[in-house]
Amino acid sequence: MKNILHIISSPRAELSASRKLGNAVVEKIKAKYTDAVIKERDLAKDHVPFLEEKHINTFFSPAENYSEEQSEMSRYSEGLIAELQEADIIVVDSPMYNLSVPATLRAYFDFTSRAGYTFKYSENGPQGLLQNKKLYIAFTSGNIYSEDPYQIFDSNVPYVKNIFSFYGVSDVSVVRAEGLSIPGIMETSLEKAIEGIHID
Ligand SMILES: Cc1cc2nc3c(=O)[nH]c(=O)nc-3n(C[C@H](O)[C@H](O)[C@H](O)COP(=O)(O)O)c2cc1C
Repeated sequence: MKNILHIISSPRAELSASRKLGNAVVEKIKAKYTDAVIKERDLAKDHVPFLEEKHINTFFSPAENYSEEQSEMSRYSEGLIAELQEADIIVVDSPMYNLSVPATLRAYFDFTSRAGYTFKYSENGPQGLLQNKKLYIAFTSGNIYSEDPYQIFDSNVPYVKNIFSFYGVSDVSVVRAEGLSIPGIMETSLEKAIEGIHID
């Protein structure tokens, strides 16, 4: 049985292209692994807070010194991390928002990037602690970043890949529906991206 974690980050609902693409990836995973169990982490419905000093103080302090409030903050972050630990396959909807990921997703990374949980430092530098996981990134954008002249602005997918590589996840497939604001491309981009999804 495969545990699938679907991380949704678009603030849009029905109109969201990245949700459609991410959902299509999940559907194809379900078609391949018929007993797959899907867990949705919808970051637009349940906002992860922006990182404040109190969170940083908590995440960088030993648990034995926690106040009641700090224990609660840590438990919340640990709950998000547990979903990652339990997943065999992770699907991240990652639309391009102002040349980055939506703030919802960035906040999620701020609460899941924790030493001792998703990575650790050793004499050899950082080491990822999530193992044997497959990641699918469902990327959507108005412009085209996978080729020139805007390839130099391709900052979303490499960032998400880097975060997960830091966590130890290096088996990554990227599905791109780009040019969603460009007439002549926008009409078919999402459909073509969905057709091209390959589950390995
Ligand atoms: C607030 C906002 C910012 C955006 N910024 C960019 C951008 O920097 N580059 C780009 O190519 N498209 C940009 N777009 C277009 C989105 O990437 C595109 O519409 C994508 O499908 C959004 O995903 P969603 O429909 O799941 O929300 C932006 C759209 C919105 C709403």
